[in-house]
Amino acid sequence: MLRMTKVSAAAGVWLLAGTVAWARQTATPPTDLQVEPRVTALLGQMTLAEKVGQLTQVGAFPGMDPAGTIRKAGAGSVLWLNDPKQFNALQRVAVEETRLKIPVLFALDVVHGYRTIFPVPLAMAASWDPAGYEKAQAMAAREARAAGLHWTFAPMLDIARDARWGRIVEGAGEDPYLGAAMAAAQVRGFQGPYPGSPGHLIACAKHFAAYGAADGGRDYDPAYVPEGLLRNVYLPPFQAAAKAGVGTFMSAYMDLNDVPATANRFLLRDVLRGEWGFKGFVVSDAFGVANLIAQGFAADGKEAARRAVEAGLDMDMASNTFGQNLVAEVESGRLPVARIDEAVRPILAAKVRMGLFENPFVDESKVAAVLEAPAHREEARRAARRSMVLLRNQGQALPLRKDVGSIAVIGPVADSKADTEGPWIAFGQPPAAVTILEGIRAKVGAGAKVTHASGPQIRRDVPSMFEEFVPALKQPPQTPEAAETAFQQAVATARDAEVVVMVLGETAYMSGEGASRSSLDLPGRQQELLEAVVALGKKVVLVLVAGRPLGITWAAEHVPAILEAWQPGSEGGHAVADVLFGDVNPGGKLPVTFPKKAGHAPLYYARTLTHQPEGSPRYRPRYWDGSEAPLYPFGHGLSYTTFTYSNLEVAEPKVAVGKTATVTVDVKNSGAVAGDEVVQLYVHQRTGSDSRPRRELEGFERVSLAPGETKTVAFKLGPDELRYWSTAQGRSVQEPAGFDVWVGGDSTASTHAELEVTR
Ligand code: NOJ
Repeated sequence: MLRMTKVSAAAGVWLLAGTVAWARQTATPPTDLQVEPRVTALLGQMTLAEKVGQLTQVGAFPGMDPAGTIRKAGAGSVLWLNDPKQFNALQRVAVEETRLKIPVLFALDVVHGYRTIFPVPLAMAASWDPAGYEKAQAMAAREARAAGLHWTFAPMLDIARDARWGRIVEGAGEDPYLGAAMAAAQVRGFQGPYPGSPGHLIACAKHFAAYGAADGGRDYDPAYVPEGLLRNVYLPPFQAAAKAGVGTFMSAYMDLNDVPATANRFLLRDVLRGEWGFKGFVVSDAFGVANLIAQGFAADGKEAARRAVEAGLDMDMASNTFGQNLVAEVESGRLPVARIDEAVRPILAAKVRMGLFENPFVDESKVAAVLEAPAHREEARRAARRSMVLLRNQGQALPLRKDVGSIAVIGPVADSKADTEGPWIAFGQPPAAVTILEGIRAKVGAGAKVTHASGPQIRRDVPSMFEEFVPALKQPPQTPEAAETAFQQAVATARDAEVVVMVLGETAYMSGEGASRSSLDLPGRQQELLEAVVALGKKVVLVLVAGRPLGITWAAEHVPAILEAWQPGSEGGHAVADVLFGDVNPGGKLPVTFPKKAGHAPLYYARTLTHQPEGSPRYRPRYWDGSEAPLYPFGHGLSYTTFTYSNLEVAEPKVAVGKTATVTVDVKNSGAVAGDEVVQLYVHQRTGSDSRPRRELEGFERVSLAPGETKTVAFKLGPDELRYWSTAQGRSVQEPAGFDVWVGGDSTASTHAELEVTR
């Protein structure tokens, strides 16, 4: 029943009696009919300055003045703050000291956990487990919401095909199908039943769009992406997020085809609103509106603000360019007020849906209990175990025995809490991960003597911008003499042990924002250390801790077992030990191709064929200084057991365009221990209006199998899977054509069938 009640005439705040029920802890999404009249009523009372206030997201870094900004004309949101007390203090300014008492949204990058840190997103993608990802992000949201946050700048949905790009760690890797599945799962996890629902956060699909296509993998550099590639590869995860009901989008920093994403009408209006029907709001990336001047796009703040708003941007993150210019732009007639109203509406609607007008404050007494929920740590451990990828296991070097006698755990990231957690830890949370050294110690107990040496320090040549906010990152450099001593100590420690676990990789902020690299080699003296330790002739196992594929070509020939642990989060050390000692059988698969060298980037499996296809007699390697074949292909990952595939069948080998075929395959655990296999389905359209990728992932399922057990896995191949955006036709098509179908455990799967799509 809709009934408008004017609660406080002085404040001008309209409440809808019928909406109070859902504002109090219900999972039923409020309808537009409940929300919109209230937004309209509020909007009707707002001055232009108050409207622009809502389009402003103010930073809470030193030198910025969120309270002052809010007091002047209100604010849409505050970011970069993470303290329940300060949230309440600022919210009090908003709801007690402003004319219309409109609360603010508190926003932060809750990317892979809040207090409980889950594996980094690239690792979560390696689990090929959307349900697990949904659960993890729901827990992250629960913690963050309890602490007073409303909105997270996640999920990050940028497809990345170049491991030099540091932000590859924040996304789901190279593939649009996997990326879309992980996008939708994260949105469901963060937001729950609707954006603003109790115990959840509003999610933000970022960075729209094609940020991962930066030239040369250089963060922020321009991306040149033709429309077909954009629509077939870079946009699907964003579209999946929109379809899953994501509340907000964030525009990317860079120029897309020479138009900054911050003011890109094609992206923000034509595609996002026009084609996808997105009804939420779009925030810029930090300082993105002011950056339009630096980018050589706008002459001054006025023009930057106007062109961003015209293009479809709604909220200015941190640059205050809207705050300084939009009122004048509207008053001078250069910008219609209707466009401002259009931008304000979804921001107010988000606040109404969230119940912020009724419950603006965080209950400080309840925060601790949620943050310390043991179930969250348990799930972080489960997620980390599921994300690990066994890259190599010659002669069954793994699993290790717990009573091995002595184990040396060597390497600069073996006992670092910060590096185990990875980048994007909510500000102000001290790293509290179980390190890999600690995990191994806990696992073997008195069964083996565990020693440790870190070897020489690793550090960035150019310091991370995050050093400003995370003082622990500021470590004094080691002298060459100290590094040499550390090197010799590490070799000596390894010499004294029966088994050596080398834990090598990158520090937390060697990937992430502003963390691109021109090389994928192990940084510092780690390669040299690895070779010196292997030369001792001991049993050596390599555990990689990193946010990107690393150039481990030498290790892939000389180290019998390699486990990709990524940056595994709070319970990472326990999870690594679970896998190393065989309590857990690894089942993760690579969400990204591992090239042999950085010079092969971008290297991805879904390339189109050439006039010299691989495997054909005419094939010639592309480089004269080494094969471009990947070190490990997309989808690769070993297990302590083996799987065999049989009976691949396409139930309807001929289907008409628009119809769906069913593909089934039997997967058997042909080894001696239980394990998980990620069954992957790839297709290739043989001919069509455009050349199509040699293979594209169009289905996957992670299955658990007992020894000897067989499961039949079924996939659908219909218009959703077989449609693509054709450059030749300038539209989305599904075409009659012959298709190859492969099913297997990685992107080189050889179990093959055919499908014919007829007119
Ligand atoms: C800049 C980053 O590009 C973006 O991912 C992040 O959400 C914002 N800063 C806010 O911290």
